[in-house]
Order: sequence, then structure tokens, then C-alpha cells
Amino acid sequence: MSLKTAATAVFQNAYAPYSKFKVGAAIRAASGVIYSGCNVENVSYPEGTCAEAGAIAAMVAAGETALTEVYVIADSPMPVSPCGGCRQKLAEFGKGHVPVIMGTIAGEEQVMTLADLLPGAFNTDHMKKS
Ligand code: THU
Repeated sequence: MSLKTAATAVFQNAYAPYSKFKVGAAIRAASGVIYSGCNVENVSYPEGTCAEAGAIAAMVAAGETALTEVYVIADSPMPVSPCGGCRQKLAEFGKGHVPVIMGTIAGEEQVMTLADLLPGAFNTDHMKKS
């Protein structure tokens, strides 16, 4: 199964009764296995979770901690890029060159790397004593 197929399939299951904006995410882990996730909203709005977070949780739960490719899809007029929090979450498990493909249900695609999406990312270097 392709990343796009996986992201499109899980997009259908998104739980987004408040925003009405469904998002699907699929990530390829270092093993080659694809993990997917969708946004899961909550009546207490801040408790909702993004699609990327769900896919990452599935990957880590399966015992993997490295991702090599990401696909995010939504029924949007233009490709939807991951939110700021998800950029940081993805950067935890993916190197800067990892491609993030942003797609629309209509078929448009845009590709950026994790480094493009999160320049100057906070990392462990910043926590070293000066
Ligand atoms: N959303 C995601 O799932 N991923 C993103 O990167 C952008 C936003 C979700 C969160 C919320 O359920 C809905 O889209 C509207 O913000």
C-alpha cells in the first residue's frame, strides 16, 4: 500500500465533528512499515489530537522510533501543512531531509522536508550547559 493510499483511507475515519475538517496522516517507518492516524477531536477542544500525532503514536506503540517519509491529506483547497506542534513531533523521529508530502483530496501535492517545515528546530544541543 502506498503512503497516499494509507493516508486517504485513514482520513475517512477522522473524528472531526467540531471543525468538520478531517485530516489523515501516514508515516513510513525505518522498517518500511506504514503507520497511519487521523485527527480525533473532543468537546473540550484542546483535548483533540492531530492526525500526525496519531500516526506517530501508532509507530512508537509498534516499537519503531524512526520515520523516513510522511504524507498528510485533507479535503482542503490547498495542501495542508502540519501545524507547529506536529512539526516538532515529526522532527523528534525524522531527520531534516525526510520528505513531507502534503496532499489534497482533489489530487494536488506539495513536498517539503522536515527541515523546511521547522528551521532552527529545538533539539538536545540547546539543552547543553554553556
Ligand atoms: N489538524 C491536524 O490533524 N493536523 C494538522 O497538522 C493541522 C490540523 C486537525 C486538528 C483539528 O482537528 C482540525 O485539523 C482543525 O484544526
